[in-house]
Amino acid sequence: MDSITDPILLVWESRFDLGIKSFDDQHRHLVQVLNELYAEHNRETINLRDLDSIAKELVDFTVYSLDYEADCLVQFGYHDLLLHLEQHELFKEKTNWFKDKLASNNLEQKQLLFTIRNLWKFLYLWLLDHIMVCDKKFKTLMLQNGMK
Ligand SMILES: [Fe+2]
Repeated sequence: MDSITDPILLVWESRFDLGIKSFDDQHRHLVQVLNELYAEHNRETINLRDLDSIAKELVDFTVYSLDYEADCLVQFGYHDLLLHLEQHELFKEKTNWFKDKLASNNLEQKQLLFTIRNLWKFLYLWLLDHIMVCDKKFKTLMLQNGMK
C-alpha cells in the first residue's frame, strides 16, 4: 500500500466489512465522501464551493461516526480504548486541518491539488488500516454485547 502516490477511487470490498451494520454503514459513508473528494480533485477546475461542502461533510461525519464508535467502546469496556481513541484523533486532526486550510482561502490551484492529494493519501491509508486492523480487534466484544 505504500506505493500509492496518486488518488484513486476506493471501491468497497466485502473484506472491509466488520459484520456490524451501524459501523459498516458509517465506514461506507466515509469511503463515499473520500471518493467525492477524489472526484472533485479530478475536475479540470476545482469548484471551491463543492470542495467546502465535501470538507464540511468529512469533518462532521468523522466526528459523528468516530464518537459513536468511541461511545460503544466505552460502554462495553474495550481494553485498548486509549490507543484506539488516539488513532481517531489523528483522523479528526487531519480532516480539521483540511477544513482550516480551505477556510484560509489563500491556496493557488496547484497548492490546493497538492493539499488534497496529501490529505487523500493520509485518509485513504488510515481508513483502510483502521477498518481492517484496529476495528476488527473489537468486533467480538461488540457481538458479545448484542450489536449486529
Ligand atoms: Fe475505530
